[in-house]
Amino acid sequence: MEKIIEAFTGVTPEGKKSRTPARLDKLLTGTGVVLAIFMMAHMFFVSTILLGEKTMYTVTKMFELDFMFEGGLPFIISIFVAIITAILVVHAILGIRKFPTSYKAYIRIKQHAKMMKHSDTSMWMFQWISGLMMMFLASIHLYIMFTQPQNIGPYASANRIVNEHMWLLYMVLLICVELHGSIGLYRAAMKWGWFDGENPKETRKKMIKAKKMVSYFFLTLGAITLLAYIKIGIEKGDSLPMKYSPTTYQEIIKK
Ligand code: HEM
Repeated sequence: MEKIIEAFTGVTPEGKKSRTPARLDKLLTGTGVVLAIFMMAHMFFVSTILLGEKTMYTVTKMFELDFMFEGGLPFIISIFVAIITAILVVHAILGIRKFPTSYKAYIRIKQHAKMMKHSDTSMWMFQWISGLMMMFLASIHLYIMFTQPQNIGPYASANRIVNEHMWLLYMVLLICVELHGSIGLYRAAMKWGWFDGENPKETRKKMIKAKKMVSYFFLTLGAITLLAYIKIGIEKGDSLPMKYSPTTYQEIIKK
């Protein structure tokens, strides 16, 4: 209990300045960086659908280690989901410390951001609003991935997105995750001075530009990918088997 109070107040029971908040901030950044890297890899994996149904299916099976175990083992995906969920929970709990704890505190921060016209303060506000939304939306997605790892593939995913109406959740989640991720990386680089160099002001300008480019790239890739799954779902929705296999694929394209 003392440690929790210390983390929130930044003061030890002896009245000295505690190092716990700084340590927790480092852990917040560390888990955030791991998640941001995972999200980029995840987007590239999901977008393999743009290279064709067969490519996406092959990549999915590769994650199930089908090159070692005949037919693949979907529960390997569940283990992976559990690890990512654990990192996400730690990151979220550490992030909660940064939320304003009352309406009064929120109004104070909002006025501060307005007065300072400081884009970094506004970004910080966006971070906790999008973070809060993701806590709910990502939980739904992760629970489905954890309990139904066998239902991942070009048809099973398209079926979930169109017939089970996941497109709406993914649309909102995509916007939150891509902006939250790029803003998070930018803020972490600023806070810890990763690329300060000779001229920190110039570096900041360049970092803002890089942040925007990363956001636009992943938002566009995510939107096109989502549309590709929606197209498959609509076109083949009636005959969509949950499982992809070369024979069912041949049957579908004949129709
Ligand atoms: C190991 C954990 C994860 C796995 C295995 C996974 C897997 C997938 C798969 C297979 C899809 C394609 C659609 C479907 O089959 O329903 C998808 C889509 C998506 N996932 Fe994940 N996911 C994971 C974690 C996450 C996390 C942590 C987030 C965000 C916080 C996330 C956000 C999204 C979004 C936004 C889409 C839609 C992509 C688009 O718009 O193109 N996923 N995920």
